[in-house]
Amino acid sequence: MKFFVDTADIAEIKDLASTGLLDGVTTNPSLVAKSGAKNFIALIEEICGVVDGPVSAEVAATDYPTMLKEGQRLAKIAKNVAVKVPLTPDGLKVCKVLSDDGTMVNVTLCFSAAQAILAAKAGATFVSPFVGRLDDIGQDGLNLISEIVEIYNQYPAIETEVLVASVRNPVHLVESAKMGAHVATIPPAVIRQLYSHPLTEKGLATFVSDWAKTGQSILDAA
Ligand code: E4P
Repeated sequence: MKFFVDTADIAEIKDLASTGLLDGVTTNPSLVAKSGAKNFIALIEEICGVVDGPVSAEVAATDYPTMLKEGQRLAKIAKNVAVKVPLTPDGLKVCKVLSDDGTMVNVTLCFSAAQAILAAKAGATFVSPFVGRLDDIGQDGLNLISEIVEIYNQYPAIETEVLVASVRNPVHLVESAKMGAHVATIPPAVIRQLYSHPLTEKGLATFVSDWAKTGQSILDAA
């Protein structure tokens, strides 16, 4: 499973990229606003220089002609830009045109299996079903992932990858991985939670203190 980080905070992206475990980045207008960045194009260019994998940059318009122009502008920033468009009739038209031109496209705001089928037909590189936001309204976000993976698996010609979005906790990630979702975009705080287990911390503390009792140093050994 590929790991993308869901943030527009360049310091966080640099820190997580240094782990060597980061495969890409997703941003959205809300995350850009939260980051305080004043130049969106410059921000995406900087992120694309830090991470080799896909970097999602979302269009701001909602009508077809303007979204298309914005998407084409964003695609010029770097080869690893994935233009993010909303799952609307106009957004999917833009997706088809950009995909046919060889640009990566991430279709966002997917909340149903029917929408995911449309995204695949429009040639999306990624479809982003929002798990947490479905949970928030009392639905089962993970069930949507299961449905989309099952449907896509019926058609080997579909190349669209299921990008699990709106991830709120490690369970969302683990369950999506069990279902075979291709990618998860994860907030930095949840990525850090993935490392943690009380028995790892307890076990390491014991090993460190027992090692000290041996009085040895691996680096100073003859
Ligand atoms: C996906 O690309 C979105 O940026 C994101 O996952 C939305 O998550 P949220 O529901 O926590 O805002």
